Amino acid sequence: MKTRVRKAVLPVAGLGTRFLPATKCMPKEMLPVVDKPLIQYAIEEAEAAGIEQFMLITGRGKNLLEDHFDHAFELERTLELRGRLKELEMVRDFPEPSKIQYMRQQQALGLGHAIWCARDFVRDEPFAVILPDDMVLAETGCLSQMMEAYAEVGGNVVAVGEVPREHTNRYGILDVESDDGRIAKARGVVEKPAPEDAPSTLSVIGRYILQPDIFAHLDKKQKGAGGEIQLTDAIAATLGTVPLHGLRYQGQRFDCGSKAGFVAANVAYALAREDMEKDVRLAIMELLK
Ligand code: UTP
Repeated sequence: MKTRVRKAVLPVAGLGTRFLPATKCMPKEMLPVVDKPLIQYAIEEAEAAGIEQFMLITGRGKNLLEDHFDHAFELERTLELRGRLKELEMVRDFPEPSKIQYMRQQQALGLGHAIWCARDFVRDEPFAVILPDDMVLAETGCLSQMMEAYAEVGGNVVAVGEVPREHTNRYGILDVESDDGRIAKARGVVEKPAPEDAPSTLSVIGRYILQPDIFAHLDKKQKGAGGEIQLTDAIAATLGTVPLHGLRYQGQRFDCGSKAGFVAANVAYALAREDMEKDVRLAIMELLK
């Protein structure tokens, strides 16, 4: 029987250089899409998928994240006194304190290293990884979709989507053994291959369900593409013992680590909201005149 996935690791220790100067003092994950920071969308997606314990891998200057998931007594009291109950509910809407833990990465040595920092939190259970700057707008959250796939195939499961061949050098790319159109079984995975070397155009996005076996490889701290310790390399190293499947998720993905993706996400999430759709549509039409 497959062990239930109860824990999620959310790496947020990157420098966010593409968003400077906004990210000089503020973590990228606090950037809002409409009115909620990226990190909150990620936590909500994980909770909807049944995750009970979270670990945020943070770095210097990330204290705002801890503040966001904590009580803001003055604000709460003021809202209470003013009878702003809807807003009060909003600012109190975060997991109980014992559910979120924080760990400093100390040095941004790469995504694989960030995940390695969570080894004592994860211990011997399967776990989820969400990169908060990858957003998927979907009726059923991307991680929930992956949980369903995981119940079918077990092992390591990643969310995948097709990318243009000229973009393969931005992603982890699957070497596909078989594919039923929904789930692809991989015989390999390579980080950021050049378009001419890419084994396919099926790219991994920031959602993973992983077996703890990857820590044995991450322990070696081997550097990969870009001189960083890559999570993809650890997944590839366990392929002999842990099968890897890619799930083609349903939904619209936004790379909020890039400026264009972030702007597009704001527009799409606003258009998906009943309270904003009409005004935003009008504003866009006005701009495009
Ligand atoms: P990115 O490649 O987007 O890097 O990291 P970044 O530093 O966040 O942003 P840019 O490229 O400088 O603009 C992908 C994910 O991995 C995390 C990031 O926080 C992000 O969620 N990460 C990356 C770490 O937690 N630690 C690292 O050492 C590297």
